[in-house]
Amino acid sequence: MKYKILIIYYFSGTGNAKNAARWIIKQAEENGLTTRLINIDRFEDIEPPDLSRPTLIGFCSPTHGFNMPPIVIKFIMKFPRTRTTDVFILNTRGGLKLNRFFLPGLSGLAQIFPAIVLRMKGYRVVGMQPLDLPSNWLLLHPGLREKVIESIYSRCNRIVNEFALKILGGEKKYKALLSLPFDIAIIPISLAYYFFGRFFLAKTLIATDACNNCEKCIVQCPVRAITMINDRPFWSYNCESCMRCVNNCPQRAIETTQTYSAILILISSMVISPLLVRMLEYIGVWDLFNRSAFTQNIWTLINSLIFILFAIICYRGLHLLMRFRLVNRIITYTSFSKYRFWRRYKAPKS
Ligand SMILES: Cc1cc2nc3c(=O)[nH]c(=O)nc-3n(C[C@H](O)[C@H](O)[C@H](O)COP(=O)(O)O)c2cc1C
Repeated sequence: MKYKILIIYYFSGTGNAKNAARWIIKQAEENGLTTRLINIDRFEDIEPPDLSRPTLIGFCSPTHGFNMPPIVIKFIMKFPRTRTTDVFILNTRGGLKLNRFFLPGLSGLAQIFPAIVLRMKGYRVVGMQPLDLPSNWLLLHPGLREKVIESIYSRCNRIVNEFALKILGGEKKYKALLSLPFDIAIIPISLAYYFFGRFFLAKTLIATDACNNCEKCIVQCPVRAITMINDRPFWSYNCESCMRCVNNCPQRAIETTQTYSAILILISSMVISPLLVRMLEYIGVWDLFNRSAFTQNIWTLINSLIFILFAIICYRGLHLLMRFRLVNRIITYTSFSKYRFWRRYKAPKS
């Protein structure tokens, strides 16, 4: 093996990235390396790693909105500089399985951005590996069935072991670059999600009357995004929508409010935006936004900010109104996550 020490920093909402990190650690230990697995939940300071012996550093994280989650981006941005240390990046993505076919997720900026930052800090990126573990994006689809999860897991376990052996042995592996053209093409979506999308998603989670205030979601939240307001958990903008709270709630009391979210989007796009356009036309400034692609983009930006503001106000209102039984029932029964077929996602223990 080329290295004596392996240090992996990981962030994981529902366990996939943690499992992938553990597989690599296991391979390293079997090959005589000293290892450290470091969870970056709620990190404040970063202890500089001891690099006196040949060391490989890894970063494992889920992909959120075609990018690394903000907590991982912050961590990597604050990570100390070096001269010659080797690093690898592994992003778990939302993999699915249709009949016999494994469908990959999408990385977007999740590999390119940290690779550039680490390179600029002096690291040598020796591995870039995407990994299509089961998707946990419960707002969009139910958690996968156990059998599908098992099958995706055993495929990914093989991929990771092969990747680990190669990079630990000193080879370079850049599997992530295969989808580079596509990842570059979706950069605008990655940026839109990073600057706007995630703020809306933070305002789609709500605790129903099934909540017994056990505070497990508050204690376990990796970014301290949940606080108790009026005896009900409240999700702040720090939320990364990592899905840990939704999947681990012992009462299944946290819902993903699909219908409520769809209604917000409809009201915003079919009522608020057209009304604003009318108002701007009325005061004679609408043409200013219609002059070029640049001014149209400014309008899109303003529209997105107004949507986020609208979502904040509605979420505050919803959080207050949830104390009324009728509102509570409507929100509960119009959330797909209420129903058993909309399974929660549990990463297998490994
Ligand atoms: C809010 C959110 C956004 C996501 N965005 C993406 C994405 O852009 N591309 C992708 O392939 N998977 C995406 N996923 C799926 C997760 O990246 C994937 O399930 C990952 O393996 C979860 O890892 P974890 O269990 O360590 O949190 C997203 C999941 C969530 C909850």
